[in-house]
Amino acid sequence: MRIGIPREAKPGETLVAATVTSAAQLVKLGYDVVVESGAGAASDQPDAEYRAAGVAVGSAEDVWAAEVVVKVNAPTEAEIGLLRPGATVVAMMAPARSPELVERLAAAGVTALAMDAVPRISRAQSLDVLSSMANVAGYRAVVEAAHVFGRQFTGQVTAAGQIPPARVFVVGAGVAGLAAIGTAIAMGAVVRAFDIRPEVGEQVESMGAEFVRVELANEVSADGYAREMTQEQEQATAAMYDQEAREADIVITTALIPGRPAPTLLRAGTVAAMRPGSVIVDMAAANGGNCEGTVADEVVVTDNRVTVLGYTDLASRLPAQASQLYGTNVANLFRLLTPERDGRLALDLDDVVQRSITVVRDGEVRWPPPPVPVSAAPAPAASAGSQAGEPAPPPAPPDPRRRWYAAGLGAVLFALVAAYSPPVFLGHLTVFVLAVVVGFYVVTSVSHALHTPLMSETNAISGIILVGGILQVGSDNLVVSVLATLAVLVASINIFGGFLVTYRMLGMFRRG
Ligand code: NAI
Repeated sequence: MRIGIPREAKPGETLVAATVTSAAQLVKLGYDVVVESGAGAASDQPDAEYRAAGVAVGSAEDVWAAEVVVKVNAPTEAEIGLLRPGATVVAMMAPARSPELVERLAAAGVTALAMDAVPRISRAQSLDVLSSMANVAGYRAVVEAAHVFGRQFTGQVTAAGQIPPARVFVVGAGVAGLAAIGTAIAMGAVVRAFDIRPEVGEQVESMGAEFVRVELANEVSADGYAREMTQEQEQATAAMYDQEAREADIVITTALIPGRPAPTLLRAGTVAAMRPGSVIVDMAAANGGNCEGTVADEVVVTDNRVTVLGYTDLASRLPAQASQLYGTNVANLFRLLTPERDGRLALDLDDVVQRSITVVRDGEVRWPPPPVPVSAAPAPAASAGSQAGEPAPPPAPPDPRRRWYAAGLGAVLFALVAAYSPPVFLGHLTVFVLAVVVGFYVVTSVSHALHTPLMSETNAISGIILVGGILQVGSDNLVVSVLATLAVLVASINIFGGFLVTYRMLGMFRRG
């Protein structure tokens, strides 16, 4: 089958659906790939490099005549007209917000796969273009804010006086929010963040930012996204937004509930109370914005000189990287769609990921797909005995006496072993039981993030085996000598391997 990669028709679009590397990956899957001449120019993907990678470069007609057309943006009316009957088109289509587009694609008798409808489940992470784009956009949002902000982010003590660090407040700690937090921290800002999903607090804090907490109900939803807030919750957070925004130099808003307009979180009064020179980057501008007064794709400067950036093309402002991620997501999708690696697309609607992205199949509308539950969702409350629709009773608290029964049973077993085993064994058993108890308390009291260094320390303690092994290596007994050599070898791997792993892990947190 032939895959066509057209030049994007959207004015100002810099992205391309397949980079040289990802197009070559499609070729490896057995496809003939043809890229429209100049399609990758804005992403630093010249025609010559496509050719060198075994990818054909052709005209728009060549590309649109292909059996499969892969794009970044949804096909326009004119482009749909260019598709051959029975063709497959793959692109970001926002099908939930574009019923006319879905109808038009169905009328054209094609198959349409929406890259932006990939469910947020672990298995589909490698195809998730929304996360890829949000990640790049979150980074770029901070860069845009820094560009407009009249001061530097890092705090400094200089001979000419002290420079305080910039204060950044991020609303919504999803993919874009976390990328923005990481970037702002790397640039030296003091970062605070809020999200209605309290479970992301630990993630925010592990990045070095402070998580702002407001008394709210747990908002985990069934699809990995937050649910809409109740009126009560909105009131509880309004005062917090007001205070945080007044104290911040830069506010980056990313709050979104899929399929709904973005919630308005920063009211005009709050913006009016912010300091002159402050910057708001409203990443949700395309969905109506999180800030009152945001204009999509515009820069608004308020009367009190607060700059509100409503850019909706943040990912396209980093074209090479965004195209690389998009292209890799596309290549991963085609790996899924081409199980035989024979250059033939085999759409399997029994597969939850493929079903979720199928908007139209051979002219038949297949949108919306059935909902996909994710692990973040609370377990269904119904129990075997409960009636359908009735909430199950809360689980009974564990019987406190169980602990005492278990302790009693342990003591009896220990007494039996003590009575019938040799004294040497009893000594070893006591050390073993104490080691288990001490180990349990040490491991459970150390934060998860420090478990790897802890592991390498405990590995080092196993150096005692090394000492024992070295002492026994010269034994006259061959069996003892061989076992001692093995012990020395294995204990050395354990110790040095543990330190190597820790060193590499700590390296990931080191700057530069
Ligand atoms: P996400 O779903 O991963 O994150 C959104 C976060 O907002 C979630 O953690 C959610 O719990 C939180 N949230 C929802 N309602 C909230 C509320 N009322 N208050 C506080 N937090 C709330 O989404 P992702 O992928 O991070 O995208 C974020 C936004 O960025 C979206 O609006 C998306 O359209 C936009 N975006 C904008 C781009 C641009 O160029 N401007 C490019 C890419 C994404």
